[in-house]
Amino acid sequence: MKRHILKVRDLSKDEIVYLIQRGLEIKGHEGHSGFPLKGKTLGLIFDKPSTRTRVSFETAMFRLGGSTTYLGRADTQMSRNEPICDTARVLSRYLDALAIRTYGQDTVEEMAKWSDIPVINALTDMYHPCQILSDLMTVQEKKGRIVGLKVAWVGDGNNVANSWIDAAAVLGFDLTLACPRGFHPSQEVLGLAGDNVTVVEDPVEAVSGADVVNTDVWASMGQEEEHEARVKAFQGYQVNTELLAHCKPDVIVMHCLPAHRGEEITEEVLEGPKSVVFDQSENKMHMHQALLEWLLKEEVRSQET
Ligand code: CP
Ligand code: NVA
Repeated sequence: MKRHILKVRDLSKDEIVYLIQRGLEIKGHEGHSGFPLKGKTLGLIFDKPSTRTRVSFETAMFRLGGSTTYLGRADTQMSRNEPICDTARVLSRYLDALAIRTYGQDTVEEMAKWSDIPVINALTDMYHPCQILSDLMTVQEKKGRIVGLKVAWVGDGNNVANSWIDAAAVLGFDLTLACPRGFHPSQEVLGLAGDNVTVVEDPVEAVSGADVVNTDVWASMGQEEEHEARVKAFQGYQVNTELLAHCKPDVIVMHCLPAHRGEEITEEVLEGPKSVVFDQSENKMHMHQALLEWLLKEEVRSQET
């Protein structure tokens, strides 16, 4: 059965656990026999820039024996108002899966509604599910577990934060987010989470005793004009050495990147021994292999979950 990954909650706990384990296996070269996706093509419709997500999806597909086609913002007839319902049905005849990075979550939902192939959300204003799948893999890799840990988020209640909330809701780990008033995560997303997810306004409260500290930029893609106002609003929400003193001594610091050094995180922390950001980036490629293999190889999905 065709599956779409538009948000973390589209996956069950068992499916997420399987994907994390498979991502780690692939990273450890307990990988594929042959090229399981030979002859298959992933489309990448990207309305926003990307370094990691684009390249890691492309490399993942090549490593699985498949190919990709990249369609930037101006490249398709959607830029001349061809409707999503037509685009989705046409692309479904050529491609085997489609990853989309765009603004509105409704765009990926509309694409999924009309597609006969799996649609993957590669970031919207609302969610970044693939990022959180590989971030969970990184936590498992570094800490040996996820459930039972105290995870903190410091900064904007944005798309990445919303997907962390979804992950906490599905897996059941303890997540505390510190966000300034006016920049809290989606109420809709929070409403679907249990009491293991808490939003506070004091960063020290959020990170006290934390095993994992996460942050992200203060102005996301599409919010460039708000940057100056946001820098003012987020003063006090920087992940720095003083804040980390309140965490467990073996805390790991995560950032999906790109980072703005001196804003949401200091150079010292980003480049310091607690930072796992480059392993985190690498893991996107391994997780995307696990995800594509699982979505496109029916036999993998029916055997493993
Ligand atoms: N983390 C992430 O999604 O990075 P890119 O914007 O470079 O894809
Ligand atoms: N919140 C950031 C994430 C970038 C990967 C953005 O949407 O720009």
